Amino acid sequence: MDQKQQIVSALAAKTGFSAEELLSWLETPPSPEMGDYAFPCFRLAKALKKAPPAIAQELASALALPQDVARAEAAGGYVNFFLDKSARAKAVLERVFAEGARYGGSELGKGRNVCIDYSSVNIAKPVHIGHLPTTVIGNALYRIYNHLGFHSVGINHLGDWGTQFGKMIVAYRLWGDKEIIEQGGVDELVKLYVRFHQEAEANPSLDEQARAWFKRIEDGDAEALSLFEWFKALTLKEVEQIYDILGIRFDSYAGESFYNDKMDRVVIELREKGLLKLDQGAQIVDLSEYKMPPCIILRSDGATLYATRDIAAALYRKETYDFAKCLYVVAYQQDLHFRQWFKVVELMGYPWAKDLIHVSFGMVSGTEGAFSTRKGNMVKLRDVLSAACEKTYAVICEKSPDLEDKETIARQVGIGALIWNSLYNGRIKDVVFDWDAVLNFDGETGPYAQYTHARACSVLRKAEYQPGAVDCSALTDAEAGAVIAAIDAFPAAVVEAMEKNEPYLVTRAVTGICAAFNKFYYEQRILADDAAVRQARLALTDATRLVIAIGLNLIGICAPERM
Ligand code: ARG
Repeated sequence: MDQKQQIVSALAAKTGFSAEELLSWLETPPSPEMGDYAFPCFRLAKALKKAPPAIAQELASALALPQDVARAEAAGGYVNFFLDKSARAKAVLERVFAEGARYGGSELGKGRNVCIDYSSVNIAKPVHIGHLPTTVIGNALYRIYNHLGFHSVGINHLGDWGTQFGKMIVAYRLWGDKEIIEQGGVDELVKLYVRFHQEAEANPSLDEQARAWFKRIEDGDAEALSLFEWFKALTLKEVEQIYDILGIRFDSYAGESFYNDKMDRVVIELREKGLLKLDQGAQIVDLSEYKMPPCIILRSDGATLYATRDIAAALYRKETYDFAKCLYVVAYQQDLHFRQWFKVVELMGYPWAKDLIHVSFGMVSGTEGAFSTRKGNMVKLRDVLSAACEKTYAVICEKSPDLEDKETIARQVGIGALIWNSLYNGRIKDVVFDWDAVLNFDGETGPYAQYTHARACSVLRKAEYQPGAVDCSALTDAEAGAVIAAIDAFPAAVVEAMEKNEPYLVTRAVTGICAAFNKFYYEQRILADDAAVRQARLALTDATRLVIAIGLNLIGICAPERM
């Protein structure tokens, strides 16, 4: 039984609450002087009809202290528990080595599927830096849920439907060149699209032709479809290169067009449930009662909309994956869109509407202000990734000229730095993109965490470390204790990251381990003369290396052994 379990069963015996419930209340105090664990008594006050400080006093003196707990002290409404340092180190190290790469994971989500809709790029449109958050937050959540025993389903809900594809076809047939487009890819498609809009201003018949071509796509006309599929293949080829660099894969690319034949049933069902209303020719669901503008289901020309497709997709996902949760990692600009159609699903009477979650996030801007296509400073994601690798390569050549396979390491570090920068703060905070800060090896950055990992690996290599028996009484100094505490806090951070859909909680837990380990590295001689001390410190170094690598992996970052 680990020490938390020991503490909660002692508390359970005195309070009558279940050990399981008490476990979920147990906290890690903000500083080690306040103990290793803190038990808040506030929620007991009502049941026991006493003030929290009085309960804390009573518990602290009356508890039968478990074997590994050195003492318990009341402080305000809390009981602080001080563990026997060596017993704690032993428990934590044993758990890390027993669980290995599964450390911080569990079977919490066993048998439950979680759909994660992320990245969701648009066909024939450039993938720019604004796509980075959804892509990396979604990927991190995908890994975090899997680590906790859920089965993640990664879905790229492609923007592959709409009248713009009629325009693309018209533009291509008038001005396009097959070879140039095969060469230039999405950039060339975008040029055609821009030209279409310029020319259509003077020549409105182009818009009419575009509508006709879009209709031909909808009707399944062979020529129209083959062009449409070609645009799609060109775009996917480019985005898949980006996903390869980022180490991301999707389980499904079912996008908007996938639901073409699944829209009727949505409309029929809404009508049968009496939710549709005619409004200026359009079919809408009135949401005024919920203080929202109406959700438009069918335009007056009978065309379906973005929201209609999202409703169809949600029904399909529920039927196909029977998800426990369905996450939409999409910028906060679409808050209203999601609130509207989530409400429609609820009004349709589906109890699982509550499992639809908009995981929204803030904007990415440069140090010079917002990126925008109009200002011409919209940075293409591919260029950002390449620049990250190149800049890192230059730094490595300067700092570690003898490193083998510099290019691979530069890629892992450069890309890691970008991902870290997106996952360092809570989602909703806007991200400022600043190269100097991103690639700084000293601040709390990706390279810093990777460097700490590589440092631990290097210590182990040089010491020719062999795992073996560990005398944990050699790990009772404050610095080792802080490393142990940080490693111990990691599993709870993973669970919290999952519950709040906030990968940055894992990033912060990794940061905590790195900071504690670096302090330990500077203050304590790991390669001590005493063989038992040396072995214990190396074991702690080994555990640190392992948990940093797990944490980095969970947020989608590689952990190279040398840098
Ligand atoms: N393609 C959309 C956009 O770029 C994002 C799609 C998000 N997913 C969804 N199911 N609506 O804005």
